[in-house]
Amino acid sequence: MKIDISTAVRELKKGNVVAIPTETVYGLGALITNIDAIKKIYEIKKRPLNNPLICHVHHPSVIERYAYIEDYQRKMFELWPGPLTILFKKKDIVPDIVTAGSQYCAFRIPDHPVFLEILKQVDEPIAAPSANPFAKISPVTAEMVLDYFENTIPVVDGGRCKVGLESTVIKFIDHQSLQVLRPGKYTKEFFEKMGYRIVDYKNQNLDRLLSPGLLPKHYSPSIPLILLNKKYLQILKESDVDLFINKLLNQLSLNIDKNAKIGFLVYGDFPTKDKVFYNLSKNANLEEIAQNLFSFLKEMEQKFDAIISFKVEDQGIGIAINDRLRRAAEFKIEE
Ligand code: TXA
Ligand code: MG
Repeated sequence: MKIDISTAVRELKKGNVVAIPTETVYGLGALITNIDAIKKIYEIKKRPLNNPLICHVHHPSVIERYAYIEDYQRKMFELWPGPLTILFKKKDIVPDIVTAGSQYCAFRIPDHPVFLEILKQVDEPIAAPSANPFAKISPVTAEMVLDYFENTIPVVDGGRCKVGLESTVIKFIDHQSLQVLRPGKYTKEFFEKMGYRIVDYKNQNLDRLLSPGLLPKHYSPSIPLILLNKKYLQILKESDVDLFINKLLNQLSLNIDKNAKIGFLVYGDFPTKDKVFYNLSKNANLEEIAQNLFSFLKEMEQKFDAIISFKVEDQGIGIAINDRLRRAAEFKIEE
């Protein structure tokens, strides 16, 4: 069911969970001070309790009621409202379930007029993980949310999300260095240009220690996704599609039926959308690719038995696109 802003505010105050649009992806929102409502989020998503939630506010002054902000951290507020999440040392009033027991709580000011209006009206942080069942692709339209939860979660329709990938998550180490916990629109290179030293997060991140093939499939479609190096895009352009598929399946010794319906997630000079091609961006524009990525994947998983996708240029938001593709992929040829 679609609801308007004032109904959403009323439902949130009653302790209910509501799906809300942001500029990144749709979120499943509840007031952080209502522990029962927060528990509902974990239940609805089937999310493990050790995975903390991001809290959304309309102004830094709201954060200050719930966490400690160091003066040097305020420089980063230039990027708000926007797709950046910052970890702050939490105050006791933040329930442990929100941070999964961590002393740090994640906050961001989302850049979406609908969400900002809701946040102003409740004037409390709203915890909102992406509005998808655990390990599924994040939703970028109200329809994707309704489909995932079979119409059981009310959603405020704010149109298609303009960024299309989840926010960048950072943690300050001190006034001049920080860690990037999750890449998004803002990348390590971006923060380096701002003058920060990037402290590697890899060593502490269990996900990254495992071999790439064992990466937890955090963003996975329900059918196998094959991720190929960019150069295969040119090869595909110059080949017969069936021949390309046969060669690839043999090369990878993949257990995919020869008659399986296979779709190509491409970009650049390909048909926009025809039988097998889903073109993310005709000009290979990285922002446009990011915007279309999750909705195309969701459409394709309903239509095909497997997806063949291609890495994008590893720069800017392309780094985050490749990160999500890698996590979605069952098979990879990155060289
Ligand atoms: O763009 C976004 O960030 C979207 C929209 C709805 O705002 N939200 C989102 O939330 O992607 P979620 O829950 O799907 O992802 C939150 C990420 C997870 O990787 C989580 O581990 C990390 O942020 N995170 C949240 N709180 C944290 C904390 N206290 N310490 C470390 N990581 C944290
Ligand atoms: Mg998520």
